[in-house]
Amino acid sequence: MTLSQHVLQQLNNFGPDAQDLSAIMNRIAFAGKLVSRRLTRAGLVEDALGFTGRQNIQGESVKKMDSYANDVFISVFQQSGLVCRLVSEEMDDIYYMPESCSISRYTLLYDPIDGSSNVDINLNVGSIFALRRQQGDDTDQTGADLLTPGHEQLVAGYILYGPSTVFVYSIGKGVHSFTLDPSLGEFILSSENIQIPEHGPNYSLNEGNMWQWEESFRDYIRYVHRHEVYSGRYSGALVGDFHRILMQGGVFLYPGTTKNPAGKLRLLYESAPLAFLAEQANGKATTGDHSVLDVKPDHIHMRTPLIIGSREDVALVESFIQGRKLEQPPAPLGVSSI
Ligand code: AHG
Ligand code: MN
Ligand code: MN
Repeated sequence: MTLSQHVLQQLNNFGPDAQDLSAIMNRIAFAGKLVSRRLTRAGLVEDALGFTGRQNIQGESVKKMDSYANDVFISVFQQSGLVCRLVSEEMDDIYYMPESCSISRYTLLYDPIDGSSNVDINLNVGSIFALRRQQGDDTDQTGADLLTPGHEQLVAGYILYGPSTVFVYSIGKGVHSFTLDPSLGEFILSSENIQIPEHGPNYSLNEGNMWQWEESFRDYIRYVHRHEVYSGRYSGALVGDFHRILMQGGVFLYPGTTKNPAGKLRLLYESAPLAFLAEQANGKATTGDHSVLDVKPDHIHMRTPLIIGSREDVALVESFIQGRKLEQPPAPLGVSSI
């Protein structure tokens, strides 16, 4: 089954809204194919690797692939009549598509290349996206309706550019994955109704930040180190690390640091879309204080700490944050080895 057939089947109707959503997903998939094609030949074509020399609004150096993928998402939606606004990690402000705004009520929020430090060394990267329905007219172009919790997301997903290119999405009816068949140029259904295991062996975080975390995270890591059932797995690309946890169980963490108290990951186009997927797959996502999907952003590039994955593994981290470990140390996981 192809992706667009699947979307229509999930919506269980063929009305104009369903056709629009299916067309939007098709466009995102097309962007994914274009990015995937460039990545597979990045070492051979000019201007695919390295930095642009510019910095984005978060003060991070922009890679040529970040900029390319950002433009791909713009161009696949231009003149489509499908999406009125785009919000991207690589654009300071909301990008309006006036030609579509009179007929479209959708906003696409995206991280065009997630994990871009991996691009130059040919390791996995991803794209993350969320789709929201516009509330109100936004005539003054403030985008105020976008500063609402992640429950407002209609669709969320990601594209993982690994040995194969995989498209994972949820429209609020479970999580499904598709694998790109390059000979057909189509994403074909590979797993339906994916469930994150209740717990798993993987813990995924940048331990290089250990002395910048709050003590509770160091306590958690000491606990993990003392129990041999755990395996550290960190690729430097959230999409890849999350995909492992989605399929095998475990927990990904990006806590606040002394330098960045809210951590590194951006709510609207990184944490919230993955939290939507995690919850749809029976997992959990928290900032440590609140469910990620309850957090109301105060600006479009807001960051949040992220703890996401299997329910029991996220609960274990929370038990350290809340100091419950002092009363009742959590039991080791019931998994023997990876
Ligand atoms: P991006 O490439 O979109 O800026 O995101 C990078 C993110 C995420 O993919 C990854 O988990 C994290 O940054 C890695 O950060 P550290 O290098 O600080 O571990
Ligand atoms: Mn990212
Ligand atoms: Mn990015």
